[in-house]
Amino acid sequence: MNKATLATALVLTVTTPGLRPSSPARAGVQEQKVTVHILAERFRFSPDEIRIRRGATVAFVLESDDTDHGFRILGTEIDRVIPKRGQGTIEVTFTPDRAGRYSFECSKLCGAGHDFMHGVLVVED
Ligand code: CUA
Repeated sequence: MNKATLATALVLTVTTPGLRPSSPARAGVQEQKVTVHILAERFRFSPDEIRIRRGATVAFVLESDDTDHGFRILGTEIDRVIPKRGQGTIEVTFTPDRAGRYSFECSKLCGAGHDFMHGVLVVED
């Protein structure tokens, strides 16, 4: 996927219904929940790069278009199975506490390209 296509995909993903501020839970702090739909299929995540602002909570909605996959965010305890196609979606919420790059990868052996199945969440200040 070239850069322009990636940018378009990200905009589409993040604008519906992402970046819609939810009600502030604490006075003076605007909390945001960004919903990101990710399709997993041999052997990639689409999109495989997501950018958010620090302080936001990401709700990953993950779905497979073929077999079982995994979704692990390195450096966290998040490690879930994405059920095979037709078995529904899973939702994983994550609130990064610092800016930086959080790599994620498939954590369930899914075939020859399993090791190449990864992506990154970029958290910007
Ligand atoms: Cu997908 Cu391993």
